[in-house]
Amino acid sequence: MTEGKLRAEVIATALKMNELGINQGTSGNVSARTHNRMLITPTSVVYGELRPDDLPRLEFPTPDFPGGVIAGEPDWHGPLAPSSEWRLHQAIYQAFPRAQAVIHTHATFSTVLAIARREIPACHYMLGIFGGAPIRCAAYATFGTQEFADRAVEAMTGRSACLLANHGMVVWGESLKHALWRAVELETVANQYYHSLLIGGPVLLSDDEMADTAAKLDGYGHRPGMADE
Ligand code: 13P
Repeated sequence: MTEGKLRAEVIATALKMNELGINQGTSGNVSARTHNRMLITPTSVVYGELRPDDLPRLEFPTPDFPGGVIAGEPDWHGPLAPSSEWRLHQAIYQAFPRAQAVIHTHATFSTVLAIARREIPACHYMLGIFGGAPIRCAAYATFGTQEFADRAVEAMTGRSACLLANHGMVVWGESLKHALWRAVELETVANQYYHSLLIGGPVLLSDDEMADTAAKLDGYGHRPGMADE
């Protein structure tokens, strides 16, 4: 895919996450990896007003520019400053080589659980699409900091998603559409888990039951060439 097409797809994904009700306003952010850099939504913008050329492009770290930071500033190019969460996105691309897209949202049920600092246990077999259960809740840190990024990556060990204490959730995918599919599925299970707590609590799946479904789910879900939903 050309960089121009990818820019348009990052914006379309940001618009779609709000349209689907898993994010609102200028909250959340979306990025896509392209070679040794990423395209990311700018900070504090209304996604509907974005044009492809507005997206900042950030270079990943090199031996000359450790951490992708020069004189305290991220190494970015474009008319608008990158999302305040560029460190979170960058840390995920560095930790997970298969990650091609990252979506961070303040989806309601995921955030309700994150506010209560609850993880999502093995309450639904679909958690297999994230690498298994639980979906951990990363320890709290101030948004936009390296500590916040590091804690999220730690909570995502062996997973493609985590909750972010008193904040929201983040997922990575092998494409923008794949990441959006995962974000919707995570919010759906968070909603279902929350409601199960209201009627006496879930009956959890065993490790063996989760392992069986994880094997069956390998390759399940959004794949390149599939329609949006
Ligand atoms: P940005 O507008 O800087 O992307 O921040 C939104 C957000 O959700 C911070 O966590």
